[in-house]
Amino acid sequence: MLCQNNFVSPSLNLLLRKEMLRWLPETVKTPFGVDVDVLTWAVDVDDSHADDDPLPELDGAEDHLGSVMWNSNSVVLDHLTGTVFENRSAKGLGIIELGAGVGVLGIALAAGGANVLITDLKELVPLMALNIHRNRKGRLANGGSVVAATWKWGERIPPAASKLFGSQSSAVHYVLLCDALYGNPRDWPQLIQTLNSIVDQFGSQIRVVNFCEQRVESVEDAFMALIQKDDERWVASKTSEIQESSSLGMTVRVTTLQRNNEARKSQQKKRAREE
Ligand SMILES: C[S@@+](CC[C@H](N)C(=O)[O-])C[C@H]1O[C@@H](n2cnc3c(N)ncnc32)[C@H](O)[C@@H]1O
Repeated sequence: MLCQNNFVSPSLNLLLRKEMLRWLPETVKTPFGVDVDVLTWAVDVDDSHADDDPLPELDGAEDHLGSVMWNSNSVVLDHLTGTVFENRSAKGLGIIELGAGVGVLGIALAAGGANVLITDLKELVPLMALNIHRNRKGRLANGGSVVAATWKWGERIPPAASKLFGSQSSAVHYVLLCDALYGNPRDWPQLIQTLNSIVDQFGSQIRVVNFCEQRVESVEDAFMALIQKDDERWVASKTSEIQESSSLGMTVRVTTLQRNNEARKSQQKKRAREE
């Protein structure tokens, strides 16, 4: 079961945090025949983990949104393999995940054979590293690899990216964002800068796949408007919605973006025709 405390109001959250929030293990099923087991900051409903080790190395992560495993992760994996990867396995794919939080998505894809760089703010890197370590056996099963690195959007590409993907311009196939646009619109210009720097370094074949659980309002429309205002070569090549069938009953919108050099030429032609 996925942790739900992202729905808890801030004041109640504060109260709960003192009393009941702990680093708890969660198991996530993957389509690759390997389960992923991660620690996430969650409500200890029956207090059964009260005597667990406190894990002081994770103290810096507790106040961060990414310490909680967000709901979309539960539906994203099946959609990625079935639809985005078109039923091809994840084997050999180069993937960068931005705002990876506990790292479950990237760790699962590595278990399927992908080479994955999971990134987030520096405070979350010890949590991602610990979760990578917890899954070291499953990860080896299909020849994948996963590395955690600090990447605050707008800052330069971390050395771990060049180490993992080399300087080959076709080594990265996907950039993934899972519920990473919530609560941070002030950081979107830096995120756009980061997406541009990834495509500049690793090539325009890269697809950016954004998963957003639909809440009060759609955040990705505003993000799309901003990225296209910044550079009209960014086009949404596909948008679809996943309806989740369990008790969570959520809808996750999936938007695939690509920075397409041809898009600029065709837009220029269209404008020329209209004038
Ligand atoms: C809502 S959480 C989602 C976490 C994870 N993807 C998941 O689905 O469980 C958003 C994530 O984006 C990260 N994030 C937000 N602003 C960021 C920034 N400026 N630079 C890097 N990461 C950022 C947060 O630290 C957090 O881990």
